[in-house]
Amino acid sequence: MAVMAGWTRLWHGPSLPGWWAAQRVESRPAARVRRDARADRVRALVAGGATVTAAAAQVGVDPSGAYRYLRPESRAAPEEEHMPTLESGDLTGLPDLSGHRVLVPGGTGAVGEGVVRTFLAAGADVLVPTRSPQRLAEFREVLSDAATDRLHLVVHDYTTFAGAADLAEQMVTRLGGIDDVVAPIGGWWAGRTLAEIDEADWQGAFLALATTHMAVLRACLPRMSGRGAYSLVVGDSATTPVPGSGLVSIEQAALLMMQRVAAAEADGRTGRDRRRVVALVLGPVRTRQVESGDASWVSAEQVGAVAVEMAAGAASADQLHLGGRDKADEVLSRLRASRTADAAVAR
Ligand SMILES: NC(=O)c1ccc[n+]([C@@H]2O[C@H](COP(=O)([O-])OP(=O)(O)OC[C@H]3O[C@@H](n4cnc5c(N)ncnc54)[C@H](OP(=O)(O)O)[C@@H]3O)[C@@H](O)[C@H]2O)c1
Repeated sequence: MAVMAGWTRLWHGPSLPGWWAAQRVESRPAARVRRDARADRVRALVAGGATVTAAAAQVGVDPSGAYRYLRPESRAAPEEEHMPTLESGDLTGLPDLSGHRVLVPGGTGAVGEGVVRTFLAAGADVLVPTRSPQRLAEFREVLSDAATDRLHLVVHDYTTFAGAADLAEQMVTRLGGIDDVVAPIGGWWAGRTLAEIDEADWQGAFLALATTHMAVLRACLPRMSGRGAYSLVVGDSATTPVPGSGLVSIEQAALLMMQRVAAAEADGRTGRDRRRVVALVLGPVRTRQVESGDASWVSAEQVGAVAVEMAAGAASADQLHLGGRDKADEVLSRLRASRTADAAVAR
């Protein structure tokens, strides 16, 4: 793909020349959260036990503004236990996605990394927009050798309707289309009860993230080729109320309904309009941000592998629950079996 190679060089150039560089790079201020109060709340939640999900326990927001997850001591895995790293994750048995053009907004994040690695391993072309040049450089370093010339990392503000529409349009123009979207946008927020939140919290932890998801979905769905899938990534907090993190629960619940409406609107359509929209509902995830993680958690690469299967197969699904490693393996086996059976029928 000669055109792609030139394009890749353009994007990867240090000065990001051309159209992409002209885009406004903006890092939205995260909702104001006090680190100490958050840590105290994590301890209180974990100590409270039963009703607090493991996902809820991974609370944190780093002072630089990016949402972060922390693993409380009480969930620490035994030190001697072998923990698979992202690099040693099982990326075998993936379907061949050569030629698939995949957009991963939020791909620079903890879950996004696994998604990006897995789609690259499956042979797809992967476009990852990020709002900051610094994140771009860091992410290239994180990926290291996995950052092949099929990875297209660009600086682009995709958090507004106009920005997301520009991104989708540029992807169609430059990559020739959009086959799949995986959206692990946004992270965790905690620190205040609903009665304590202020408008900045609401704007940052709820509205900014919900708006970004809506902007990307409305921009991409009509432009998707019809051969892939749109996978929204959310957490268990969408259905489990988490005291002190209500804005996350409210935002994630809104995303689940966004998925259901989009799926209902595509129902019964054919060809290009047959858009498969699915929500991947995660429990706590083993990522680069939790040094070891718990062996029973789903890994970021398993999340990627499920999204890859959704892209490769024809399965329709509303919500795939990936609450832990075993659950994710089950879902993966089911999707693989369904794809294999479809292929056998087609032969
Ligand atoms: N990590 C877990 O254990 C876990 C568990 C359950 C569910 N989830 C779900 O998985 C998704 C991704 O989580 P994550 O842990 O990967 O988060 P993360 O590490 O904070 O990454 C999220 C990415 O979203 C992008 N983003 C766009 N707008 C944002 C905004 N306003 N605020 C913050 N980030 C923004 C950022 O990309 P750029 O800055 O590069 O643009 C960032 O890299 C979320 O929906 C989360 O609920 C995660």
